[in-house]
Amino acid sequence: MGEMGSEEANKNWVLMVTAQCPTNIAVIKYWGKRDESLILPINDSISVTLDPQHLCTTTTAAVSPTFDTDKMWLNGKEISLAGGRFQSCLREIRSRANDVEDQEKGICIKKQDWDKLHVHIASFNNFPTAAGLASSAAGFACLVYSLSKLMNVKEEQGKLSAIARQGSGSACRSLFGGFVKWVMGNEADGSDSLAVQLASETHWDDLVIIIAVVSSREKETSSTTGMRDSVETSPLLLYRSKEVVPKRIVQMEEAIKTRDFASFAKLTCADSNQFHATCLDTTPPIFYMNDTSHRIISYMEKWNQFERTPQVAYTFDAGPNAVLIAPNRKAAALLLQRLLFYFPPPSDTELSSFVIGDKSILEDAG
Ligand code: ADP
Ligand code: DP6
Ligand code: CO
Repeated sequence: MGEMGSEEANKNWVLMVTAQCPTNIAVIKYWGKRDESLILPINDSISVTLDPQHLCTTTTAAVSPTFDTDKMWLNGKEISLAGGRFQSCLREIRSRANDVEDQEKGICIKKQDWDKLHVHIASFNNFPTAAGLASSAAGFACLVYSLSKLMNVKEEQGKLSAIARQGSGSACRSLFGGFVKWVMGNEADGSDSLAVQLASETHWDDLVIIIAVVSSREKETSSTTGMRDSVETSPLLLYRSKEVVPKRIVQMEEAIKTRDFASFAKLTCADSNQFHATCLDTTPPIFYMNDTSHRIISYMEKWNQFERTPQVAYTFDAGPNAVLIAPNRKAAALLLQRLLFYFPPPSDTELSSFVIGDKSILEDAG
C-alpha cells in the first residue's frame, strides 16, 4: 500500500468515488420481515425506479491511510455507523474487495489492505429524508454501489442487490432501472433474496410519474418499526402476504409485460390501500397518510370512474406523499393542472411543493 516506486510510502493520498442512485416506489409493497437482521421479507414486491435526475442520492466514498475510523455524513450531518445495517453492508463489501491501482496518483491498494483501511462516506438526498419517499432505498443502494466501485468489487448487480437489502429492504430494488421485482427467496442465509429486473426503463416509457409532496417532515414511525409492529399484531398482514400478494405479483407482472394500464392502475391502487389498511390494523395503529392524502385518493378515484379507462394510478409509501402514475403525457398534463388547481402550492393545506417527473409536461396541456 502507498506510493508506487517510492521507498517512503506517502500516506497523504485520498481515493474517492462518487455515485448516484435513484429511489424506487413499490407498486406491490414490501411490508414485514421474516428475518430482522438479514432483512428477509414475508412477500415478493414490485417497484418502479424513478428518474435519477429528480429523486436521487449522491454518495461519495473515500479511503485514505490517514482515516482512523469509518465515518459517515448524511445531508451534511455526521451519523453513527454503529447500527447493524451499515456494518452489514460495509462487511459484505469489504470481504469482496480487490486490488485497486491509480497510476496517476501513484496509489496501489492490495486486496488484503482493505481490512486495515477506513472509509469516509458523504451522502446527500435531493429529496426529503425519512418522509415516505424511499430515502432508505436510494441511500443504501448508493452506499453499496459507491463502496463496491471504490473497492473494485466484481460482483454482478443481483449479488450487490442482496447486499443493499441488508441496509434497507427496499434498497435492493434501486440497483436496477425500470420495473423491478424483489424475490423473497427461500434460503435461510438470504442468498436468494434479491432484485431482478422485470423490464427496462424503455419498455413502458409512455408512463409519467408525478410526486405530490404533501409533507416533507420526518415520519413519526420509521418503516422498520412500523412493519415490525404490523408483523407482531396485524392479522390482516398475514392474510395479505399469504393470500393476496402472491396473486397480485403474477397479475402485476402480466400488466407490466403487456403494458395494460387499466390492470396496472387497479393493482397499484388496491395494493397501496391494503398496505395502509394493515397499518391501521396494527396495534397501536399507524397513520402514514393524512387528510390531504385521503383527499387526493378520493379525487383520483372520481376521475378514474368518470373516464372510460383509468387515467391515473396512485400509491403511497410509509408517509403522506402521493406518487401518481399517468398512462401518458397528455393525461399527466391534465393531472398536473388539476392538482395545482385543487391543491395549490405553497399553501397551508400541507401540500407544500411538487416534484415533477418531467417539467415539460405542463407545456403539453394544450
Ligand atoms: P424512507 O421512507 O425515507 O425510506 P425510512 O424510515 O425507511 O424512510 O428510512 C429512513 C432512514 O434511512 C434514515 O433515517 C437513514 O438512516 C437512512 N437513510 C436515508 N438516506 C440515506 C442515505 N443517503 N444514505 C444512507 N442512509 C440513508
Ligand atoms: C412502504 O425498505 O424502508 O416503502 O427494510 O426496514 O429498511 P427496512 O424498510 P424499508 O420499507 C419500505 C416499505 C415501503 C414499501 C416498499 O418499498 O416496498
Ligand atoms: Co425506507
